[in-house]
This record gives sequence, C-alpha cells and structure tokens, in this order.
Amino acid sequence: MMKQYQRLKAAHPDALLFFRLGDFYEMFFEDAEIGARELEITLTSRTTGAAGRVPMCGIPYHAAGGYLSRLVEKGYKVAICDQVEDPRKAKGLVRRDITRVVTPGTLLELGALPEKGNNYIVSVAYDPSTKIVGLARLDFSTGEFRTAELGGNGRDGLGELADELACLEPAEVIIQPAAGEDPALGRVLARAFGSVPAPYRDQAYRPAEAARVLTEHFGTPSLEAYGCAESPMAVAAAGSLVTYLKETQGAAPAHIRSLRTDTRGTSMGLDPATRRNLELVEPLRPGSALSRAGRGSTGSGTLLGTLDLTVTAAGGRLLRAWVLRPLVDGEAIRERLDAVAEMMEHGLVRADLRTALRKVYDMERLTARASAGTAGARDLLALRDSLAVVPAMRDALERAGSSLLRRVARALDPVDEVGDLVGRVLVDDPPAGLKDGGLVREGYSEEVDTLRGAASGGKAWIAALEADERKRTGIKSLKVGHNQVFGYYIEVTRPNLGLVPAHFERRQTLANAERFVTPELKEREAIILGAEEKLKELEYAIFCDIRSRIAREAGRIQATAQALAALDAVLSLAEAGHRYGYSVPEVVEEPGLVIKGGRHPVVERLRTGEEFVPNDCTLGGDDASFAVITGPNMAGKSTYCRQVALIALMAQMGSAVPATAARIGIVDRVFTRIGASDELSGGRSTFLVEMSETANILGHATRRSLIVLDEIGRGTSTYDGLSLAWAVAEHIVRRVRAITLFATHYHELTELETTLEGVVNWSISVREIGDDIVFLRKVSRGAVDRSYGIQVARLAGLPSEVIERARQLLHELETASRGRAEAAAALESRALGGVQVSLFEAGPSDIEKEIAGLDLVNMTPLGALTKLHELQERLRKGPS
Ligand SMILES: Nc1ncnc2c1ncn2[C@@H]1O[C@H](COP(=O)(O)OP(=O)(O)OP(=O)(O)O)[C@@H](O)[C@H]1O
Ligand SMILES: [Mg+2]
Repeated sequence: MMKQYQRLKAAHPDALLFFRLGDFYEMFFEDAEIGARELEITLTSRTTGAAGRVPMCGIPYHAAGGYLSRLVEKGYKVAICDQVEDPRKAKGLVRRDITRVVTPGTLLELGALPEKGNNYIVSVAYDPSTKIVGLARLDFSTGEFRTAELGGNGRDGLGELADELACLEPAEVIIQPAAGEDPALGRVLARAFGSVPAPYRDQAYRPAEAARVLTEHFGTPSLEAYGCAESPMAVAAAGSLVTYLKETQGAAPAHIRSLRTDTRGTSMGLDPATRRNLELVEPLRPGSALSRAGRGSTGSGTLLGTLDLTVTAAGGRLLRAWVLRPLVDGEAIRERLDAVAEMMEHGLVRADLRTALRKVYDMERLTARASAGTAGARDLLALRDSLAVVPAMRDALERAGSSLLRRVARALDPVDEVGDLVGRVLVDDPPAGLKDGGLVREGYSEEVDTLRGAASGGKAWIAALEADERKRTGIKSLKVGHNQVFGYYIEVTRPNLGLVPAHFERRQTLANAERFVTPELKEREAIILGAEEKLKELEYAIFCDIRSRIAREAGRIQATAQALAALDAVLSLAEAGHRYGYSVPEVVEEPGLVIKGGRHPVVERLRTGEEFVPNDCTLGGDDASFAVITGPNMAGKSTYCRQVALIALMAQMGSAVPATAARIGIVDRVFTRIGASDELSGGRSTFLVEMSETANILGHATRRSLIVLDEIGRGTSTYDGLSLAWAVAEHIVRRVRAITLFATHYHELTELETTLEGVVNWSISVREIGDDIVFLRKVSRGAVDRSYGIQVARLAGLPSEVIERARQLLHELETASRGRAEAAAALESRALGGVQVSLFEAGPSDIEKEIAGLDLVNMTPLGALTKLHELQERLRKGPS
C-alpha cells in the first residue's frame, strides 16, 4: 500500500495527498505534519514495512469538505485519492487513483466561496517578441470564461495587466514560463501576487496546441465564434486553462460551455488607485473591519454597498462587475439605462420580480457542481426550486418594452426536464449523504420499491415476532432487540430461562438475562440487510444518473441563470434609484458633463445629522473643462470632486444617478489622484506614489477622460509642490484637454483662470460667525483665499491653548509674510535684475579688472599665490 501511496504522491508532488483508507482520508510523511499543523488535528504514526514508523494524520471522509476548504484557502493544493473499485470485490490491494486535485481556483464547496464575489483562476500567456500578454480568466464555480489580449500596438500591456489583476483578485494563477522570465512582467506579477508564480508547462501555451484543446473542448471546428481566432495569446491563455482543469479535475469541465473574448474599449478604464479612491467596492480607510471582509464583500460606505440591493448571489456578482467595469459603448449603456428606467417606473412589477427572485438559489454554482459530480440531492432540489419560478417571471416580463428586458425574457428557460426529473425521482426531504439511501421517491423504480418492501416486510415480521414468541413460550418479559455486534436477538430474563424452547441458540450472557437467536430470525435478518445494502447502491446509482442527465442541460440552465442575474442587477439599480431619489441620466457621445443638483451617493446616505447639499457641475463641451476648486478645510472639495466622478461612472454602468438631471458625455477613463496614500509596503514614499500616479494620468488621459486631482503636490515643500501642481495643470489644459476637477489649497493656482483658456475657478464658501464658521457646502464661481484651518482644528477638539497659540502664530506669520513679501519682491528684483546690473550695466568691478589684467605668463607660482592672497584679503574687507 505504501508503494501505491508513493506512486500517487510522485505524480502530484506539489499537492497534499488525501489518501482514502476505509472511512478516512489519511495524510503521511511531510503532508501529515503540514495537515496536523494547519488543521489542528492530532499527528499520529503508522508502522509500515520498509519505512518503519511514518507520521500520519487523518480526517473522516464525510467531513472532508470543511477541511479541504481550509487547506485550499491557506493556499495549498489537495490531491484527493479515492478507492476506484469496491473494496469487497477487490482481489488483494484495492485500486486507488487521484480523482480530483482541489486548488484555490477550482473550489466548488459552496460555503468556501465568496457568495457575491467571483473566484477566478487566471492564466497569463506572453509572447516576448511582440510583448503581447494573453490573460484568460475562469470562474470554475460559475462557468464564466473570458480571455483577452493586452498590449501590442503601442498599448501599455503591463499597465492593463496590473489593472486587470487588481480588479479580478484571482484566487489562483498559472503563467507561461516566458511571462515569469520577463523582468518587467515579472515585477507586475510579483506586485499582484506577492511573488512571481511558478510557471506552468510551456507546451500548454503553444497557440496551436491551445487552439486544439479549445476546439476539442467546445466541439467546434474553429474559434471564430469566440472572437479569438486572430488572437494567439488570448487563445494560449484560454487553452492553457482548459488543459490545467482537465489535469486537475480528471475530466474536461462540462459546465464551461463558452468563451468570450474581451476587446479593448468595451469598458471604462479604471486603475487600482481610482477604484480605491472612489471607494467603488472597498472603503478607503485600510484596516477597518469592512475592508478586511475581502473579496465579494459589499461593505457599506462604498458605491457597491449603496447600490447592491440584489437578492441573489449571481445578481450580486454581476452588479459588482458592472460597478468595476462601467461601459463605454453608448448603445450598451442606453440599453441598460432603458431597462433600469422601466423598472423604476413599474414599482409593482419590480416588487413582484424581486420577490420571485428571492426563491432562486445560486444556479450557476449548483450547475457547476452537478457537472463536476459533486452536487448532492439537496443541490438538485435547489436547482429545481429555482427553475420553478422561471415561468411566472417570464410572464411578468412579457410586456416589457426595453430591449434588455425582452432579451432576458427570451433567455429564460424553465428547463422542464430538471423539474420533471427531480420531482419524479427524488424525495422532498432527502438526507445530506448520498450513500445511505432514502433518496428515491416511491413509485419511480420498481426495483427500489421491491427492495424497500423486502426490507420493511422483514422488519415488520421481526416486530411481530415479540408478541408471537411471548404467546408461544409463555414468557411475559421476552423481548426482541438489535445491536451492532449480534444483529437481532431474543432476550429472556434469568428467572424465565427454564421456559426457553430448544431451537433457541444462545449467543450472549448478561448479568440477569440471556440473548438467543433462531435460524428463522437470522434468515429474515439476512434478507433485510441484503435488501438494504442493495437499496443503497441502487439509489446512489439512480441519483448519479439523474445528476448527469441534469448536467447535460448545463448550457440551458446557465443561460437562464445569467439572464436572472442580469435581471436581478437591473432590479437592484432600479430599486436603489427609486429609494434614493435618483434620476435617469442622458448619455451622449459628445464630451462634456452637465449635472444639476448632484449628490454624493455614499456620503448623502451617512447619517451625520447634516442635510446633504446638492451642487451643479458644467464642464467640457463649450464650457471650460478645467475647474480649480478652492475652499476652506472641511468645506466639501473632495466630496464634490468624487461625486462628479461617481455620477459619470454610475451613468456609464447603466445606473440612475443622484442628481435631479444629468447629461454625461461618455468618458473613456476616470483618473483620480486623491490625498496622500502611503504605500510603505511597496517600498515607495508618499510623494513618489503621488508623482507616479500623476505621471500615469498625464501619460494616458485623453480628451474623453475625466481627471480628479485632489491636492497634488502636498507631499513636498510648498514651493516644489506649487510649481509641480501649476505645471501639471498647464499640461492638462494645453495638451491633454481632459475634463478635470482640481481641488487645491494653493490659492496661487486660481490665477490660472486669467492666464489659460478653458480654466474656471469654483469655490466652496463658508460663513464666519465670530470665531466660528458655518459650512454652506455650495459650489459657486470664484475663488476663496482662506483655509480656516484653525477653526476646523477647533471643531476637531484640539485643546484651546493650542488653538490660541496657533491663532497668535498665524497672525505673526501673516504680518511677517506681508513684510516678507515686500522683501521677497525686492530680493527677486535683485536676484534677477541686481546681478545683471552689476555684471553688465555697471561693468566689471576693480578686482575683476585687476584679474583680467594679470600677466600670468610672466608670473611665478609664488607671485600668483601672493596676488591671489591679496585679492582675497581685499574682498574679505568689503566692497572696494
Ligand atoms: N454637499 C455636502 N453636503 C453636506 N455635507 C457635505 C457636503 N460635502 C461635504 N460634506 C461633509 O463635509 C465633510 C468634509 O468634506 P471634504 O472632505 O470633501 O472636505 P474638503 O474640502 O476636501 O476638506 P480638506 O480641505 O480638509 O481636504 C464630509 O465628510 C461630509 O460629511
Ligand atoms: Mg479634501
């Protein structure tokens, strides 16, 4: 047996091996030590022939799921080795084989997956000669499979890859060896995963081989239909994933029915910093409980948290994807907006549909489990119950006007076969286990019914036996019982032993009773046991059969599941729009933003006790496109900038927006540079991060982009910062011409309005009442020139002595700086003009003249040195 173990282990050296022994999965050697430590179970040992005592630990097979998930979540791969023949029928050693390798990206255990998040496995292919990156992603638990090519044609493939990986948060990654070997690409991977992932077989990435694997898997002659026929790296990445899955799962994954190729320009570009700054799915403050909730969480305090009123897990996942990837195609955006508008209008239909959706389980994942052969009876019932609501939903959508809703209605397929099969075969309340019988409904299989009849007939006979034997023997206290060791027996107490008939065979003696069996009893018992055994096997076989018949409908079920997810996401946006008083924006091709009465979707929902004040925004088009926003601390500058960006983003994801009206010219990318965010773990200083983010913006923004710059240049000395901010602003206005909101405390920047076409000053004012300030929160034309930092500090509760002292210092500084400003002006004229005067207008000084007149050729070194000393002395004494 140890030889068998070693052979299997050698085939999967990088995985922990779960080796099936009886009712346990055992781990041996080093695996046992890791298992015991990570799972907190007891490490024992086992004597083997050659190796002596080896470390061992085990877990009961029926509870393996939980242990598996724990190991996989910690990043281990687990190879599961099962008995592949019936131990009772095996001659000699039972044959065992690896039936599945569970990896972080191939988990199907429902409890271990983020409910409203995806669990992606990604593959990175790379062609060093063209520098094109292939990136395929697969959510094994739902069947979503997509691929894309990044870079090439002067595009920044590595930047795109970094953005994608940050967005996908893959649970597992495989890479082509060439990808890990390229230094720049290696750095991107190391940043995303902590280290460069181990390479997978190069063979699997050869475009021809990958294409063969894919066409074979989908059963199509070419990859034309999947849009990647012309994209070898996209094919390489996708094909390698299928190869990897076949290898780890033992079979081609049947629920992966289709592949989509993403082409560039189907979604709005959002870099990781912007996703973070706008708090799309995670709140900014790191370390807060919410941000630690991880993948798939919808923390409040985020855009997703506000908009996510989905009622199904699949709907939640889709909405998350919509938030992270707003669209850029006008048609597609308007299609979603139409559907959302329609559902906002029809409150009753919306309510009915949402109620119906609540009965829908995670069909994508249930189907995946059916295909992989890991679904239980309850999973199939859940699938049936989910599909049962489909006809009513289809009816409700029958009169829908918008094309998206009509498409949903057409895609809804109740897949009657499933309901029919499950309804006919399975009992209503099946047990959790599959191998203990009790699954199959009466009347479905004659054989099952006969066996059940035999088993229950036998049991009834035994139940009647007690009364019969009491009558026959005259022993009033005679009892029939059952235990694990002896099976059925007849028990007679000691005083009555004399009455026991001769054909009773003694089996066991207790303190005051004896237990007997009769040949007839044993015969009945054998019938019961035999029937029960056969019944369990038969029921299991029937179950497996209907599970695979359902798996054959995976494509239809999944299409329905996806349609329901889209419906749920639309309903969620409509519900949010209705509850929070949003309006449906107009989305147009011409650049420019017009927002009336805009609010920040997240801040307005925080209960701060302060009513949220709406503000307008008009930028781009015929108006100025660059707004310099000034205002005191706490006035609301950052909030305003973000709200504008969020409204554009919401419009493009197809959501209604927190405004009374909005017209949004489609934005290709949103860039943000907000506040100071340290990235010490990345080994980069605050200022360097800020400048590299700014460089990224200047390098990639276009006329169609929306840029939010919030206090750039703050991380360095005032003059450096101001100069940088100024130069950046000029560059954007003159060259990039993107719509820009620029919040700053550098009041000097308000001068840009007069010097540069296209710049406008906006400010958020406060009212002073004595020493106090009142925030008005209204954005208006013009600039303000005070920060009110001390008043804000007082609101924040700084001790009054400190406030008083600060006030005093501020006064001194302001007076001094007025004086200093004059001094500086004078200094400046001297620094520039002054030197020039002495050099060119007043002519050379006496000393200079003297140096010019020296006859160096006829001077001794000592003479020269003496002269130099004399000149120096005269200079030190003062101007001549
Ligand atoms: N329009 C608004 N209506 C109501 N409250 C608002 C509004 N805008 C901002 N606030 C509130 O004011 C607080 C401060 O806003 P914000 O951080 O945007 O100020 P700021 O001008 O950027 O300040 P600082 O200069 O210190 O960065 C917010 O947390 C929010 O609670
Ligand atoms: Mg701010």
